[in-house]
Amino acid sequence: MDIELRREQSSDYSETENVTREAFWNHYSPACSEHYLLHIMRDCPAFVPELDVVAVCDGKIVGNVVYMKSVIRADNGNSYEVLSLGPISVLPEYQRKGIGVRMIEYTRDIARRMGFAAILLCGDPDYYSRQGFLSAETFGIRTEDDMYADALQVCPLSERAMSGMKGRYVEDSIYQIDESVASDFDKHFPPKEIIVGTPSQKRFDEIVVKRRKA
Ligand SMILES: CC(C)(COP(=O)(O)OP(=O)(O)OC[C@H]1O[C@@H](n2cnc3c(N)ncnc32)[C@H](O)[C@@H]1OP(=O)(O)O)[C@@H](O)C(=O)NCCC(=O)NCCS
Repeated sequence: MDIELRREQSSDYSETENVTREAFWNHYSPACSEHYLLHIMRDCPAFVPELDVVAVCDGKIVGNVVYMKSVIRADNGNSYEVLSLGPISVLPEYQRKGIGVRMIEYTRDIARRMGFAAILLCGDPDYYSRQGFLSAETFGIRTEDDMYADALQVCPLSERAMSGMKGRYVEDSIYQIDESVASDFDKHFPPKEIIVGTPSQKRFDEIVVKRRKA
């Protein structure tokens, strides 16, 4: 399978949003809103266009990854700029063929060259631990509400990247989307069946509750 990775262009936007919708549909919750998140992220000042990459197979977009700038408010009083990864999506019929790994490695190299210190994300540790991510707790990094969370993971981009970064991770507010606006946005797409209680939804519900007071 020949996969090309390249920057997303504005003419790709609706196709990529559909890829995101297909990847996330019923995955973490019944239906999904990540395609709406992607739609509004690109206009946000914290969006990093250089890291907005699509995977293309035979002229068709089959994957996408995007990043936003976020901040660690460190316990030492400093603020450090970091990257937030996501959403990352691969069309279901193309999953588990190495495309996700390739997109992460490709964009991670660009991020490192751009001088970013670290990538953070909330996701399944089973997947991201294989992609070079470590528990944020290892570095004393907590959620904005000051909790250690199993889902919160960090990929340092250089050996000295994490020094002084013990503190709270504050994501861009764009990630707190309005679900009713997202649901209206979804009406632009073909109808899809909404399923409650999929195994991946149950897995997600187990991961998100794994939080401890710092
Ligand atoms: C998560 C996602 C982007 C991964 O992309 P992918 O192309 O399917 O992943 P890869 O083929 O590169 O996977 C690499 C490895 O991770 C494993 N893996 C893939 N998805 C996994 C998952 N959800 N949980 C655990 N392991 C997973 C693969 O088996 C593979 O391991 P192996 O090399 O030992 O076989 C893709 O599955 C997806 O779009 N999922 C739905 C949306 C989503 O969950 N996005 C992430 C939000 S945090």
